[in-house]
Amino acid sequence: MVEVEVKRRMGEDDIAEVAALLRAVQAADGHAGLGEHQWLDLVQGGRSGSAGFVARTPGRARLAGYAQLSRGPDSWAVEVAVDPAQRQAGIGIDLLRAALAEVAAQGGGHVHLWVPKPTELHDQVASAVGLERGRELIQMRRSLPLDPMLAEAADGFPVRSFRVGKDEPAWLELNNLAFGGHPEQGAWDLGIIEERERQPWFDPEGFLLHERNGRLAAFCWTKIADRDDPSDPGEIYVIGVRPGLQGVGLGRAMLAAGAAYLSSQGKQSIMLYVDAGNTGAVHLYRSFGFAVDHHDRAYVGNVPAAPHASERGTDGAHPIDGAEAHGQAALGGGDPGGPSHRRHRS
Ligand SMILES: CC(C)(COP(=O)(O)OP(=O)(O)OC[C@H]1O[C@@H](n2cnc3c(N)ncnc32)[C@H](O)[C@@H]1OP(=O)(O)O)[C@@H](O)C(=O)NCCC(=O)NCCS
Repeated sequence: MVEVEVKRRMGEDDIAEVAALLRAVQAADGHAGLGEHQWLDLVQGGRSGSAGFVARTPGRARLAGYAQLSRGPDSWAVEVAVDPAQRQAGIGIDLLRAALAEVAAQGGGHVHLWVPKPTELHDQVASAVGLERGRELIQMRRSLPLDPMLAEAADGFPVRSFRVGKDEPAWLELNNLAFGGHPEQGAWDLGIIEERERQPWFDPEGFLLHERNGRLAAFCWTKIADRDDPSDPGEIYVIGVRPGLQGVGLGRAMLAAGAAYLSSQGKQSIMLYVDAGNTGAVHLYRSFGFAVDHHDRAYVGNVPAAPHASERGTDGAHPIDGAEAHGQAALGGGDPGGPSHRRHRS
């Protein structure tokens, strides 16, 4: 029997408990237990509509599992982490059921469940809660520095660093145009970028902007999760080009500029995440010598609104019989990217 509790606000003790669970998941699976957006939703309060689900087994100190639900502009995202010592007991399915019930209570909608390095077991778990395979995200990597032929795309190409407190409105406009309709990277607002600026890894020097005719035209935002370990890859965190200026070489130049910055900071390799269906971006990365490291998969489904959706939505404990569903395992499986690389889906 596990007890699943819905949390719409996380206090310091709650965050510490979830962090302990995520450390155990990281140690067992070799990948972060939650994607970056999910983690920030938890720590910072996130977008409205997000909620955490905490599963406890009576008598056990460590949480049995945790699910994080976040509402994007057009859909919901959910991720689940289960204590490595308490797997194969249906806890992931219980957490997912609780999260999907919350979606229904808040009016229903399209749901993505993200799983790193998915296996057949994940297909079974997803199918047990009525979700099917959807988007695939690819993590791609290559070594640094770039070969001179690729690096030269940045030669003489003017870029400048992001200015905190000044560039946010213009960058938000450009980002939201470049990523129009994107479930996680689209529809950002000032609160979201300010959250990122507060992260310990945030480095405006590595957030590169290109202007055309006095207006932002393209950007390449790099991320260095671990400055002390040169073998930990630097990341192309988000890259975007103004829609009317795409296809004329700005993406190549910005990517080369981002790679050059990461090399200048001592990084020996570079990685990024891209939607498998983003053929233009995948083509660009392949032409830069990036190769696929692994896939993440979204399981998707449409959750109908609960009959009395508006009457629910208060905090409270929901005991669920954990014995009824079996087959749940890691809901994850081995991202060598290291603890600080939380998946970011641009
Ligand atoms: C992906 C993106 C950054 C590429 O920038 P860009 O300025 O359009 O690309 P470039 O003009 O530099 O072209 C680079 C290469 O990609 C190819 N390419 C770019 N867009 C393409 C598309 N939609 N379909 C096929 N190929 C495409 C170009 O043909 C070029 O290849 P080539 O050098 O072999 O001819 C830009 O299109 C963009 O902002 N897209 C929306 C946001 C996004 O998806 N960002 C990436 C998230 S991982």
